[in-house]
Amino acid sequence: MAGFVTGSYKLLWGEHIHHGLWSADESAADAQLRLTREVARLAGIRTGERVLDVGCGMGGSSLHLARTLQCQVTGITISPFQRRWASWAAWRRGLSRFTDFCCADAETIEFEPNRFDVVWSIECTEHLFDKPEFFRRAAGWLRPGGRMAICAWLVGDRADSQQAKQMVLDVCEGSFCPSLGSASDYRGWLEQAGLRVGVTEDWTDSVVKTWSICEARVKRTGVSRLAGWVDRDTVRFLQRFRTIRQAYEQRAMAYGCFVAEKPA
Ligand SMILES: C[S@@+](CC[C@H](N)C(=O)[O-])C[C@H]1O[C@@H](n2cnc3c(N)ncnc32)[C@H](O)[C@@H]1O
Repeated sequence: MAGFVTGSYKLLWGEHIHHGLWSADESAADAQLRLTREVARLAGIRTGERVLDVGCGMGGSSLHLARTLQCQVTGITISPFQRRWASWAAWRRGLSRFTDFCCADAETIEFEPNRFDVVWSIECTEHLFDKPEFFRRAAGWLRPGGRMAICAWLVGDRADSQQAKQMVLDVCEGSFCPSLGSASDYRGWLEQAGLRVGVTEDWTDSVVKTWSICEARVKRTGVSRLAGWVDRDTVRFLQRFRTIRQAYEQRAMAYGCFVAEKPA
């Protein structure tokens, strides 16, 4: 992901590059933190556990887990800019001894078997080309009894019409995703990887507000005009915010959280 795209994300969303999870009228930053905390709670993350954060972005989740639970977190991102940012943010907060950020492709990186207590990935698996293969490999990195916690943009349950399919394609094109899976695809991939799915949450209605906030911030900050000077990918990404909101509202898309355990 180019530095400018990451910069736009940071301007719009802050250090956590993911949806917020609203329960009432909390701020976007609080809603994002709520999503992170809720995933940690559902995954039952305990003090000092070894966590792999796949697609760690600027380190939002990794730093949260390191700070609040003293987890030992390895974060991987395909973006060198994000890796540098995350390492710098960890250093600035005195969390370097808990974190290790690497620039690597989740589809090819290798870890030794049983290395992690938790594999955590918020909104990265959408970007992977071979999702079933990723889950198969990632399950091997978990120790028996370890958990995999995933949040993902999904194909919704009303994605059958031509218009809905086109919306999903437009979202994928604008967001650098080769494809989106449905909730049942994700459950199937996790099960095929030998994991037991314990949590399947549909958070669509609680996250959709993210996009009206993003649309308003793009208008207010003029980031879209600025992006026009820099690169086409960023402009396309920013222009797709309304499509994403509509896709969620019409259930062409959904948002899911999954936690699955590797049998002990
Ligand atoms: C929407 S951001 C989410 C970032 C972070 N999980 C968070 O919640 O703040 C998607 C992340 O996935 C990463 N990513 C995309 N494809 C990847 C790949 N093949 N290998 C590793 N990271 C990848 C991007 O660099 C980015 O960090």
